[in-house]
Amino acid sequence: MSVLIKGGRIVTATDDFVADVYAEGERIVSIGESLEVDADRVIDATGKYVLPGCVDPHTHLDMPWRAKTTVDDFYHGHVAAAFGGTTTHVDFCIQAKGQSFAEALETWHAKREGKALIDSGFHIIVTDLGEDGSRLEELATLPSEHGVSSYKLFMAYNDSLRISDEGLFQVMQVAARTGACVMVHAENGDAIEVLVAEAIAAGHTDPIYHALTRPPEVEGEATNRAIQLAHVAGCPLYVVHVSCEEALEPIRTARRKGWDVWAETCTQYFLVDVSYLERLDGFEAGNYVYTPPPRPKANQEALWEAVRTDDLQVVSTDHCAYTREQKLLGKDDFRAIPNGAPGMENRLELIHHFGVRGGRITLHRMVELLSTNPAKLFGMYPKKGTIAIGSDADLVVFDPEKRHTISAATHHSASDINIYEGTEVVGAPETVLLRGQVLVEGGELVAAPGSGQFVARARFRERLPAAGRAVAA
Ligand code: URP
Ligand code: ZN
Ligand code: ZN
Repeated sequence: MSVLIKGGRIVTATDDFVADVYAEGERIVSIGESLEVDADRVIDATGKYVLPGCVDPHTHLDMPWRAKTTVDDFYHGHVAAAFGGTTTHVDFCIQAKGQSFAEALETWHAKREGKALIDSGFHIIVTDLGEDGSRLEELATLPSEHGVSSYKLFMAYNDSLRISDEGLFQVMQVAARTGACVMVHAENGDAIEVLVAEAIAAGHTDPIYHALTRPPEVEGEATNRAIQLAHVAGCPLYVVHVSCEEALEPIRTARRKGWDVWAETCTQYFLVDVSYLERLDGFEAGNYVYTPPPRPKANQEALWEAVRTDDLQVVSTDHCAYTREQKLLGKDDFRAIPNGAPGMENRLELIHHFGVRGGRITLHRMVELLSTNPAKLFGMYPKKGTIAIGSDADLVVFDPEKRHTISAATHHSASDINIYEGTEVVGAPETVLLRGQVLVEGGELVAAPGSGQFVARARFRERLPAAGRAVAA
């Protein structure tokens, strides 16, 4: 099977030119002006952007956690992703307590079976290091034997996923040895427990207390702690879902010093603020309960500035979809609201509309944040993350003028919640290809489950040029 995409404006992290892209089988084999090739399929991209397929490095599909399982499995999540121009994601595989990492990964591989439409990698969520750290050796084998080169640790959620600082540091030492990257959910779990207990004792059970018991300072403190520990251990650190200036500050400081610290924010932190939780009637506010919580509005401009200046390198979604019915579990007690929201389908169009059209970032930077950087940081570049000869033909033909109103009534997630409900955007994906195969065109899904593959990822190899680090002569 071959496909020729004709006359589009090809935009990568570095290039911007009008040309044809020709893919044979799964790979791009030529790029040039007016290519003379016979293709099985020709797609006219005149007046459209041709972008590399987006890579979402932070998703929770089919995730059992606390009382519920996220409603998007690998089929529904992938359909939503494909419509939104995302062709690869890295999902979080949870090690259940007492379980080996291999068993956990087997469980997650089975979730994809017969359902996958787009390509997936896995991060491992480490929850149990065994007696005296007996599982650390197995952890060390994941990059070479399982293609899993990132270890995720939770510094909060004391009831379930949290790991001690001792465990966190031990995992960082393993990562330094194996070339894996350590990812942290950075919030001070103990301080949150105290604030939550105080709120409940005072009879405060509304959704807004989810935000008030997780103030920005607890995120800032844990972010700084993780950064310092990673520096001592000598491993690369990636901070997930940065939501506020308090967390940006230690990241900025560390990066200025040349420390190996990278970080993402998520679409929702640019667009939803804490006033949603304060003002919404009924249980609508429960739909905006995710962690870290929506922050005071001033943080939004700080985050735009941070993605512009490279203090943050990635915009992910933290796609974690629940239904209204599931959210209602917590209608009398914010602690019981399943925290999370869908977002995989809307990331590209929202960042294009509010970031690029809003004059905050360039088109190149958008591609870098949504595709190139996550592919590089998570060991998938240049197979993913760019448009180049030899790269996978993961391509998005994007109509920069198409108007679209976001709604749960028309989105493809299985959730009946869309936190961007009613938002009008200009610019949307038109045709989406994965390894040369069309997934979505003309508003229709045209691929069948099974088209997605598992991506074994390489070790971490991005390093910052450290101030004072010797440069080889
Ligand atoms: O609210 C969220 N973000 N749910 C998913 C788990 C996490 O903390 O990423
Ligand atoms: Zn988290
Ligand atoms: Zn998450």
